[in-house]
Amino acid sequence: MYSSLLTSLDNNILTITINRPDKLNALNKTVFTELNAVLDEVYGNPEIKSVILTGAGEKAFVAGADITEFKGLSTEAARQMAVHGQDTFFRIEHSPKPIVACVNGFALGGGCELAMSCHFRIAATQAKFGQPEVNLGLLPGYGGTQRLVQLIGKGRAVELLMSAAMIDANTALQYGLVNYVVPQEELLAKATGILSLINTKAPLAVAACITAANAVFDETKNGFAVEADEFAKCFATEDMIEGTTAFVEKRKAVFKGR
Ligand code: COA
Repeated sequence: MYSSLLTSLDNNILTITINRPDKLNALNKTVFTELNAVLDEVYGNPEIKSVILTGAGEKAFVAGADITEFKGLSTEAARQMAVHGQDTFFRIEHSPKPIVACVNGFALGGGCELAMSCHFRIAATQAKFGQPEVNLGLLPGYGGTQRLVQLIGKGRAVELLMSAAMIDANTALQYGLVNYVVPQEELLAKATGILSLINTKAPLAVAACITAANAVFDETKNGFAVEADEFAKCFATEDMIEGTTAFVEKRKAVFKGR
């Protein structure tokens, strides 16, 4: 169905694999078009409760935006390219369903930005992270300057941005950029375990957690007010009645996402 993505749906978890291994899964226009199409599915298909995002092969998650598409761009076309990439990654960050990056190798440039737009990250032991854009006379354009500061703090972030230095998985763990480091062969199983647990929870409440957490970084919003609104909205759901009733009745809740 897609030319540059592989998708498979298993136990309500959609695995999306960026599939250009001969180009280290670099993000070209086709990948962006297909990512947006698969995000339509994620947002709209009730069979999908959560998502794993990874890269094909053992070498790279994503080695960045496809540099061959940069040639000859006007400043206006470059701005549009950045805004389009930012919009796509914003849709990942604001997905009502959890999206976890399984970083199986190089996550450089747009690849690191893509991983950072996911709700959290799990790294394989050999994963490497970096924003090497200054090597190309550029800075990150898909939200990397913003999310790297949010995730690891300004001092560490600007050092990485300005030096183009790569960090290994354990340094990423120490910085809080990833939640876990596991051997490559355990990467998808680790994510599947966490998402299978999340998939047993009330879906609208899970979505509310994402909305409220994202509000921390949105200057147009008061995060505490967003939290209170989301809390109030949960009281109007069948799942809240089911969850609280099941607790009192000492049984396991069965959530319907309503
Ligand atoms: N855009 C387009 N093509 C890319 C790419 C990118 N970001 N990253 C890798 N590729 C391609 C290479 O051109 C090469 O293609 P070829 O076989 O047709 O020549 C192929 O992927 C394999 O990459 P190669 O550089 O040969 O692998 P390596 O093991 O020697 O080096 C990296 C791996 C990741 C260190 C290196 O590919 C690299 O530095 N990539 C660019 C990273 C970057 O600057 N990203 C930010 C972009 S804004």
